[in-house]
Amino acid sequence: MTADLHLGQLILFDGNPFLSGVSAGRHLRSGAILVESGTIVRVGETEALRDANPQARIHDHGARLLLPGFVDAHAHYPQTGMIASWGKRLIDWLNSYTFPEEMRFDDAAYAAEVAERYLDLLIAHGTTSVCSFCTIHPESVDALFSAAEARNMRVFAGKTCMDRNAPDGLRDTAQSAYDDSKALLARWHGRGRASYVITPRFSPTSTPEQLGALGALWAEHPDCLMQTHLSEQVEEIAWVKSLYPRARDYLDTYEMHGLLGKGGLYGHAIHLEPRERDRLREVGAGLVHCPTSNTFIGSGLFDMAGLMAEGQRIGLATDTGGGSSFSMLRTMAAAYEIGQLRGRPLHPAELLWLATEGSADTLRDDRIGRLKPGADADFIALDLASTPAIAQRADRAEDIWEALFPTIMMGDDRAMSGTWVAGERLK
Ligand code: GUN
Ligand code: ZN
Repeated sequence: MTADLHLGQLILFDGNPFLSGVSAGRHLRSGAILVESGTIVRVGETEALRDANPQARIHDHGARLLLPGFVDAHAHYPQTGMIASWGKRLIDWLNSYTFPEEMRFDDAAYAAEVAERYLDLLIAHGTTSVCSFCTIHPESVDALFSAAEARNMRVFAGKTCMDRNAPDGLRDTAQSAYDDSKALLARWHGRGRASYVITPRFSPTSTPEQLGALGALWAEHPDCLMQTHLSEQVEEIAWVKSLYPRARDYLDTYEMHGLLGKGGLYGHAIHLEPRERDRLREVGAGLVHCPTSNTFIGSGLFDMAGLMAEGQRIGLATDTGGGSSFSMLRTMAAAYEIGQLRGRPLHPAELLWLATEGSADTLRDDRIGRLKPGADADFIALDLASTPAIAQRADRAEDIWEALFPTIMMGDDRAMSGTWVAGERLK
C-alpha cells in the first residue's frame, strides 16, 4: 500500500483556543500529512516526513492551507431546495416554506435526488461531515445515508419525529416514531461511517408521549446522539410554555422525558435560563451555534463567550435552510459578526476550531475535525487568494491568521481547491 504525502501550510490545534488562548493553534508554514488507507498516519514538518517516507506519493499543494474538512453540527438536508426563503420568523417560516417542502420527501426518488445534490454541495464547500435532520419519512433517512455511503462520508442523521402541530402528511405518532427510528437505527447505526441520531424536531411538534417514547429509545441506545432544537425564538419559548405548563423551562420539556444527556445536541440555545445553562453544562451536552440562521430568521445573538467561559461544549453549524448558506466559511463569518454585536470578536483560531474540532467534539467523535495520527483523512486544501478581492487583502498579511481571515469573511466554494474524504479526492 503506497502512502500519500500531502504538502502545504498547516494549522494544528493543541487545545480549545477559547480556553487555552489562540496560541493553541500552531502554524506550520511547510507542513505535511501522511495518509495511508484513508487514515492520517503522521503530521509534521515537510522535510522530516519526506525523509522518513521516501516511497510516498507526493501531492504538493504549495501555499494552500491544509485543514480538517469542516464539520457542520446541525443542518436540515431536506431544506436544500427552499434555502433563502424570504421574510418570515420561525413559526411562519416553518409553516409557509419548510413543511410544504418536507412533505415532498414521501417520494423516495425526490429524497434521493436532494440528498445527492446536498452532499455534492457540502463537498464543494469543504464540509466533510454533517449532522442532519431528515423528514418524518424513513425514505428520507435511507436517501441521505445511502448518498453518504457512496461517498464514504461520515454522516450523522435521523428521522425527524413530529406528531402534532404539523400538517396532514407530515405527522407520525408516538409509536410509529419509536418503531421507525428503532428500525432505521438498526439499519444504519455503525454501518460504514454512518451514525444514527434520535431526532425529535422540537417540543412544540411532539406530544409528551412522543418525547417519552424517544427518551425510552435513547435509554436503550445510549451510544447514539440525540438532536433537537432549544430556545431559538422568544415566540417559540412562549409556545412551549403554553404546551408544557408543568415544565420548569424549555430544557425541562426534554429533561422530563429522558431527552437530556451528554450525547444530546441542542440547536440554537440562544435564550437560555440560568437553570438551563447549569443543567446543560452539568451533563456535558452539546450546544450548536447556528449564526446565519439566527440572523436570517431573526432569532437572536448566541452568547458564545459567556457559554464557553462557563465550560459548555459548543459546535458550529449552518442550519441549512433556516441558515442562509451551505458554507462553513460564511458560517464562521456570521459567528464573527455576532461576536462583534456582543462585544467579543472571535479570533480566526477560535472560528476555525469551532468549525472543525469544536463541532466534532459535540458529535463526540475524535476521528474527524482534526489533523492528527489516527484521525480519518477528511481534509481540504484552502486557497487563501481565491478571488481578487481576497488576494489583495491576504497579500499584505503579516501572519497566518491575518492571511486566513479574509477567506473566512469573504470566501466561498471557490476557496476550496480540493476536498478529500477518507483519503480520496472528491473535489
Ligand atoms: N425549529 C424546529 N424546526 C426547525 C427548523 O427546521 N429550522 C430551524 N431553524 N428551527 C427549527
Ligand atoms: Zn435546525
